[in-house]
Amino acid sequence: MSKTNIRSDFPILATSSRGKPLTYLDNAATTQKPQCVIDKIGDYYATFNANVHRAAHEMAEKATAELERTRESCAKFLNAKSTNEIIFTKGTTESINLVANSVPLFSEKRRNIVISELEHHSNIVPWHLVAERHNLRVAAIGISDDGELDLNQARSLINDDTALVAITHVSNGLGVVNDVKAICRMAREHGALCLVDGAQSALHFPINVEDIDCDFFVFSGHKLFGPTGIGVLWGRIELLEKMTPWQGGGEMIEKVSITSSTYQQPPFKFEAGTPNIAGAVGLGAALKYLEQIDRDSLGKAQDSLVKNTTERLADMPGIKLIGNPNKRSAIISFLVENSHPNDIGTLLDQQGIALRAGHHCNMPLMDRLGIPGTVRASFSLYNDDSDGDRLISGLEKAQTFL
Ligand SMILES: Cc1ncc(COP(=O)(O)O)c(C=O)c1O
Repeated sequence: MSKTNIRSDFPILATSSRGKPLTYLDNAATTQKPQCVIDKIGDYYATFNANVHRAAHEMAEKATAELERTRESCAKFLNAKSTNEIIFTKGTTESINLVANSVPLFSEKRRNIVISELEHHSNIVPWHLVAERHNLRVAAIGISDDGELDLNQARSLINDDTALVAITHVSNGLGVVNDVKAICRMAREHGALCLVDGAQSALHFPINVEDIDCDFFVFSGHKLFGPTGIGVLWGRIELLEKMTPWQGGGEMIEKVSITSSTYQQPPFKFEAGTPNIAGAVGLGAALKYLEQIDRDSLGKAQDSLVKNTTERLADMPGIKLIGNPNKRSAIISFLVENSHPNDIGTLLDQQGIALRAGHHCNMPLMDRLGIPGTVRASFSLYNDDSDGDRLISGLEKAQTFL
C-alpha cells in the first residue's frame, strides 16, 4: 500500500521557526526533504564516496551504478524512450542554458524565440544572451488579467520564423497551469523546437514527454524532495546528437589531441567534469520515495487545500488575489491592502510562517500586472489543513499591525 500520510517523513516540518511551530509554504522556491533522501546522501559520503565512470574499485563501481540508476529513474519518471536522453545538470536554470548554448537553432530564416509573460527569469535571460549573440528577436505570448496565456496571440507569434518556443508548464508566480501540449503543437506545425520548463510541474503532475510532444523538458531535483544542485535536461535523442557541447572537459570526450577533440555520445557529451554525484544519488532516493507514496490521493488532498485556502483568502477583507487561473497548481499569489508584500512576509515570518514575497524572478510578469510583487503561498504534498489555518490566522494578525 502506498503512503497517504507523509508529513512525519520530513523532519524539518516538526521544527520551529522564530520560536513558533514551522508552517512551510515556500515550496515553489524549494521543497523539504524526506529522511530517506537525507540518509541516502549521508550514506553516499559515509560508505561509497568515489568518483564515477573512471576508477577501477568497488566504491567507484557502486557510485557509478547509483548515478546511472538515477538516470534510469529519471527516464521512467518522464516516460523518456532512453536513458541517453537524460542529462544531469545543476538544475532547471542550467538545463535551459545548456539548450540555449548548444542547440543548432539559428538558421538565416528562423530569427524568433518565443517565450511568455509568465516565464521565470531563467527561461528569459538565457534567450536574451543568445539573441544578443546571434541577432535574434525574443517575443512573449501575453496573458489575460487572470493570468491565462493568450492562445490567439500565441498562434500569430509562433510562425515559420520561429526557431524555438520556451514555455513554462506551471507559472511560479501565479500557479497557472499552461496548455503546453497546445503550444508544442503550434511550434511543431511551424517546424520550431519547443522547450517546456517543468520546474513547478514535475512534482505535481505525472510527466509524459511523449504525450506533451516537446523537444526538451527541464526540471530541478530540489523542487521534488531531492537535493539542490542537481537537475535534468531531457531532450529528443535526434536533437541531442546534433547539438554541440557547451562545456568541455573530462568525461565528455572520446579522444583528445593537442589540436582537437572528439566527443562522446549523449548524455555524456553534455556532462563535462565530475558530476554532482551526491546530488544524483539523493535525486534517485527522492524519485524512489515518490514511487512509494500515493501521489494521486496526496495530490487531491493538496488541491482541495489550495482551493479552500484560495476561497478563504478571496473572502478576507483587504486581501486581493493576483491571478485567477482556470487550472491552478499549488501556488496562490495575493496582495494585502495598504502594505508592501515584503512587510507581510516579515509579519508572517515572525509567526513561524515561511513563504515568499517579491517578484519571484518574474519581473516581466509583475510589470504586466502593474505591481511590484506579491505575497506567494506555495504548497506541497505534505501540507495539511493546519497550514492553511495558520496562514489565514497569521494574515489576520498581520493586518492588525498595518
Ligand atoms: C518556473 C521556474 N523555472 C525555473 C526555475 C529555476 O529553477 P532553479 O533555480 O532550480 O534552476 C524556477 C525556480 O523557482 C521556476 O519556478
